[in-house]
Amino acid sequence: MIERIKELRAELEALSAASEQEVEALRIKYLSKKGAVSALMNDFRNVPAEQKREVGQAINELKNFATERINALREEAASHSAGASLLDLTRSAAPVRLGTRHPLSLVREQIIDIFRRLGFTVAEGPEIEDDWHVFESLNFAPDHPARDMQDTFFITRNPDVLLRTHTSSVQTRVMTSQKPPIRIICPGRVYRNEAISARAHCFFHQVEALYIDKNVTFADLRQTLLYFAREMFGPQTDIRLRPSYFPFTEPSAEMDISCDLCGGKGCSFCKGTGWVEILGCGMVDPAVLEACGIDSKEYSGFALGMGIERITNLKYRVKDLRLFSENDIRFLEEFTAAH
Ligand code: DAH
Repeated sequence: MIERIKELRAELEALSAASEQEVEALRIKYLSKKGAVSALMNDFRNVPAEQKREVGQAINELKNFATERINALREEAASHSAGASLLDLTRSAAPVRLGTRHPLSLVREQIIDIFRRLGFTVAEGPEIEDDWHVFESLNFAPDHPARDMQDTFFITRNPDVLLRTHTSSVQTRVMTSQKPPIRIICPGRVYRNEAISARAHCFFHQVEALYIDKNVTFADLRQTLLYFAREMFGPQTDIRLRPSYFPFTEPSAEMDISCDLCGGKGCSFCKGTGWVEILGCGMVDPAVLEACGIDSKEYSGFALGMGIERITNLKYRVKDLRLFSENDIRFLEEFTAAH
C-alpha cells in the first residue's frame, strides 16, 4: 500500500498539462470518486489494523498533495492561455514623447484667435502670384521700388509670375471674389530677395487683416488695434499710431506698442523710446476698392498687416531670425510649455 502511495506521488510530481482541459482530465484521473486516490481509500479497509494509522496519514497527505498539484497546474494553464493573446487591457499605455509646436505657428494661432473673437475668418491665397494681385490692384505705381528685381523673386522669364512679397495680395483675391461685408484674417508666407542675416530673411510670415463694410471708420481700426495689442501683450499695453505711407491705404499709420520690457520708461530694447513698432495699417484707399469692383462711395474699410516673426520676437525675445528656419531641436524644444 505504502509502495502504491509513493508511486502515485512520483506520478503527480512529474505531471504537466498544456491546457485547462488536460488539467481537468488529470483531476478526474486522480481526485474524482473513481480516481486513483479514492481507490486507495476503498482499499484502506483491507489494511491490517496496526498499519492503519501510518497508511491513513500517508493517504491524506497524498490527497492534499494531489489537490495542490492540480490547482497549480490549472493556474499555470490559465496564465498560458491569457498570455497567448498578449492582450492586457488594464496595462497603462507606453509614454509617447510629444513634439513641440513651432513658435511661429504658436504665435500665428494666437493672432488668429484674437481676431476670430472679433468676427474675422481666415482667408488664404497663393504664394505664387501675379503682378496685379501683389502690386497693381494695390495702387503700386508701375515704377514703385517694391516691384524692383532687388526685392521681388520672379520665378520664370515671365515677369507676371512672382512670389508674393506680402499677404496684402490676399486682400485683393478676396475683394474680387466676395461681396462686402468682408472681415478676413490672412496668415501666410511671403518672400523677398534679401540677404539672410539675424535681422532679415528671404522668406518670412505675415498676417493681414481686412474689414470692409458700410461706415467703417478710423475709430474702428484704432479700437481693433487696441484690443489686439492688449490681448496679445497684456492689459497694461498702450498703443501709439504714427502717420506713415503705404500705396494701398489712405491715411496710413504704423502702430507702436509700449515697451513691456521697461514699461515704457526707455531701455536698450526699445532704443530708449519706450515704444516698439509692430505693424502697418490704414484705411483702404478708395482706388483699391474700385480696382476690385467695390463701390467706394458705399463702402469703406481698414487693413492692417504684421510680421509674425516680429511679434514672436517681442513675445519670446528670439534675437536671431535664422533660428526660425534652422530646425534646431534645442531651440524648438524651448517652446514645449508654451502650448
Ligand atoms: N503689406 C505691408 C508690408 O508688407 C504691410 C501692411 C501695411 C499691410 C499696411 C496692410 C496695411 O494691410 O494696411 O510691409
